[in-house]
Amino acid sequence: MKFEKPIYVTMPSLAPLSEVDAYLEQVWKSGIMTHNGPLVRRFERDFATWSGLPHLVAVANGTLAIQLALRALGMPPGSEVITTPFTFIATLSAILYEGLKPVFVDIDPKTFNLDPAKIEAAITPKTRAILPVHVFGNPCDVDTIDAIARKHGLKVVYDAAHAVGVKVNGKSVLEYGDVSATSFHATKLLNTSEGGGIYAADERIDRTLRELRFFGYDDAKSVVRVGTNAKMTEVNAAIGLANLAHLDDVLSDRLAKYTLYADLLSRSDALAFQKRSDGCNHSYFPVVFRSESALLKADEALRRENVFARRYFWPSVNTYRTIVPDAERCAISESLAERIMCLPLYGKLSEDAIRAIAGIVLESAEGAA
Ligand SMILES: Cc1ncc(COP(=O)(O)O)c(C=O)c1O
Repeated sequence: MKFEKPIYVTMPSLAPLSEVDAYLEQVWKSGIMTHNGPLVRRFERDFATWSGLPHLVAVANGTLAIQLALRALGMPPGSEVITTPFTFIATLSAILYEGLKPVFVDIDPKTFNLDPAKIEAAITPKTRAILPVHVFGNPCDVDTIDAIARKHGLKVVYDAAHAVGVKVNGKSVLEYGDVSATSFHATKLLNTSEGGGIYAADERIDRTLRELRFFGYDDAKSVVRVGTNAKMTEVNAAIGLANLAHLDDVLSDRLAKYTLYADLLSRSDALAFQKRSDGCNHSYFPVVFRSESALLKADEALRRENVFARRYFWPSVNTYRTIVPDAERCAISESLAERIMCLPLYGKLSEDAIRAIAGIVLESAEGAA
């Protein structure tokens, strides 16, 4: 059965327009569009409260969130940052943009996250930080990673772009490490259209982050460091505030839809899935095929029915030879990247559509097996 309208891998979770309008009216009335205005401050406060955090620094996007997090830690140029090859390009480009050297450590084949057991072998006298990613909202082994960092005097920046709403040991996963950077991009569970957030428990780092995002100005408007413009606008905060009111519903809906996909697909030996830890937010539905050709066959079968899944993450970022020509090989990540695809998952996707998509994937994968 061909879907009449294309089904994409995701669609933004959006509050009713009237709820956004109520906030936008405040912007129009105040005339304040940006510069850490009242809605940005309210969004920071309300998101922090929702997450159980004391504060948050809202920024223009999740990529700048990682860059500012790295910059705030004050590492010398060329410092080595141990990171994962199984991520979106933004994690890698943020490290390079900050003049730091990525050192790739392979992933755990089950969780798809940076493998903590391989970190220590990659530490050198130049290593200053570890930058893991909570892949698909599945939390890293934060206790082990943070313990390794403490033992070796390293900083930890978590790329928490996928990790809104993720909890570990009963608290927000953003509380782990020295700094966590998340994304409020349109495709994320909570969206401000474009946007990002940074959490650092240390008040000095928090202050530095606020200065970095605002041209290097401190509260007294003195330039105290080299900064940039990474401010979130009032319009983005308005969208975020309206969407935040629905975030609990978005999370429970994702869990229900993830569970339906998993029930339908897990009966096949031709497919494998991410091993999820407690606290995962189920923001994506990744499925792993036995081979790249099996994946391509399923992708083609879906496209014939007007369904557009997404090869995510692909390729493994250590293989981007133009920007990391001498990067370490990472066999597990490279193999996974060739065989993994995210299936459509979003609020308005119907149960019938999920059943139909799962049927197409099953038929194709079993045929290819
Ligand atoms: C793992 C990861 N890190 C960082 C980012 C960058 O976030 P943004 O698009 O808000 O810049 C993304 C975006 O999709 C991501 O998936």
